[in-house]
Amino acid sequence: MNIIFIGSPGAGKGTQAKRISGKYKIPHISTGDILRENIINDTELGRVAKSYMHNGLLVPDSNILIMIKERLKGKDCNNGFILDGFPRTNPQADGLELILKSENIHINQVVVLQTNDDIIVERLSSRRSCTHCGKIYNLLFNPPNNSDLCDVCHSKLIQRRDDLPETIQKRLAVYKKQTEPLVQYYQDKNLTKFVDGSGTVSQITNSIFQILDQYD
Ligand code: AP5
Repeated sequence: MNIIFIGSPGAGKGTQAKRISGKYKIPHISTGDILRENIINDTELGRVAKSYMHNGLLVPDSNILIMIKERLKGKDCNNGFILDGFPRTNPQADGLELILKSENIHINQVVVLQTNDDIIVERLSSRRSCTHCGKIYNLLFNPPNNSDLCDVCHSKLIQRRDDLPETIQKRLAVYKKQTEPLVQYYQDKNLTKFVDGSGTVSQITNSIFQILDQYD
């Protein structure tokens, strides 16, 4: 099963993709997570990506396409994958199509998570993530036992630098301009399913499972 998740920043893509990955045993591929790992490891890609990410802008398509092409070669992708945060522009979608065509792979479903901006701002301002295991919390909706430490590995929790109020607004504007047109791109291919992303985490998961169970 090959799935793409589209949704504005904070729509819950990462949260839901982890649950889907667990149920259907396919890897959750988040371009944001791969880029953050590259920043931590101070790689050449990380050094290029850093200022774009901290300013809420998209990393250039050419860098992203090289990175994703490499990632999709992973053996763990043999039975499928969930793409979270990729593609994000039309050139990325075209690039993905070329990569998949050469392997005779097709996208089964594009899940579009729809959430309004007020909910997004509330969720992102209160998101915290673990510096060690990457577990995501929310101080309002899914708080850790101790607001500074991860429940799982007891490492420090941080607020992502791009979750500061002015950067959230920038990311929302970038999403509307550069990524939202992809909804039409995939609608034209008859691949989209829309999910209301404003309910509880479990309600949204159930709606997504109902869509994806047909491919299992
Ligand atoms: P990326 O990391 O992909 O960020 P994003 O798309 O902006 O998405 P987020 O991770 O912010 O949100 P999410 O939808 O995953 O929500 P989450 O589940 O965490 O990208 C970061 C940057 O990297 C980009 O800005 C760009 O610079 C660069 N980049 C990445 N990919 C790129 C690409 N393809 N091309 C170019 N540049 C790229 O949830 C958010 C919070 O809400 C959490 O605290 C969670 O606990 C909570 N929450 C989730 N669901 C619910 C719910 N139902 N109810 C209550 N709370 C909830």
